[in-house]
Amino acid sequence: MPPYAVAGMAFPVTRMRRLRATPVLRDLVRETRLSPADLVMPCFVHTEPGRRPIAAMPGIERLSIDEVVREASDVRALGIPAVLLFGIPAEKDAEGSGAWDPDGVVQLATRAIKAAHPDLLVITDLCLCEYSDHGHCGLLTHDGEVDNDSTLELLARTAVAQARAGADIIAPSDMMDGRVGAIRAALDEEGFTDAPIMAYSAKFASAYYGPFRDAAGSTPAFGDRRGYQMDPGNGDEALREAALDVEEGADVLMVKPALPYLDVLWRIKRQSRMPVAAYNVSGEYAMVKAAAAAGYLDERSVVLETLTSIRRAGADIVITYHAKDAARWLRPTP
Ligand code: PBG
Ligand code: ZN
Repeated sequence: MPPYAVAGMAFPVTRMRRLRATPVLRDLVRETRLSPADLVMPCFVHTEPGRRPIAAMPGIERLSIDEVVREASDVRALGIPAVLLFGIPAEKDAEGSGAWDPDGVVQLATRAIKAAHPDLLVITDLCLCEYSDHGHCGLLTHDGEVDNDSTLELLARTAVAQARAGADIIAPSDMMDGRVGAIRAALDEEGFTDAPIMAYSAKFASAYYGPFRDAAGSTPAFGDRRGYQMDPGNGDEALREAALDVEEGADVLMVKPALPYLDVLWRIKRQSRMPVAAYNVSGEYAMVKAAAAAGYLDERSVVLETLTSIRRAGADIVITYHAKDAARWLRPTP
């Protein structure tokens, strides 16, 4: 036996509780930290005036362009570096042309936010489902299938429109094959070689998007999204999706939703060594809000524990509707 090894290094020689004894000790040895700087606040922008509440998402509203600029200013003051914009257009059509309209709602909001707060990052969600009358994420064929390859051109066009409006990061959420490559090529061709792509790489066909679809009016008119979003049972496939997105030029990878897929998040972070974002989605937010409103759990503690756990599982960036509240709770007490 080596001289430094005490017979049985476990209890009573080792006492795990030693480092848990005081707040300052616990703080010193904490492995994962949560800061407002890790968070992204999603915002819904509509063409109507003012703010409108969203069912199942208490505290989150649809915002006019003026209101989203005000929201951006609050977000920035709280030390949150970025907003993620979703658009709710006045009119929808078969192709979703509002997505790439230079005066489309997200483009207008991006310009207004960047003019008022040049140092706040604007991330634009890139998809067609909020703009199409059928609510699917791509172009439909005659048989009502979502056609992959013809959708790529529209996504590329939308990415360029968003970059022209001043978007700092483009975030495609459609799950078409080859879209990261198509968007990268289009951005580069138009001179936006420095615009990063945050790819929704492992986006699962999830029931947790329900409140979002109410908010954005993007529930598919028929069928579901299982023909393009991932099957919740698959983890290896998520690694392949992530690897393909890296090859196609993604700068940041995303896993979505967050809590039911923390294992996927961990595996993608470990395999890719890329910056990874996790999207704590609308249904995850709604569950916490509902339970807190019923008095079943303490909202503040649950939110901070949840967001810390998402970071521990490998997320560098956490996109969450709790971002503003969390940033307030994380502010050092004077
Ligand atoms: C659109 C999109 C969705 C979400 C983000 N982008 C909904 C969907 O795929 O149906 C969900 C976000 C949330 O639930 O908070 N493709
Ligand atoms: Zn979509």
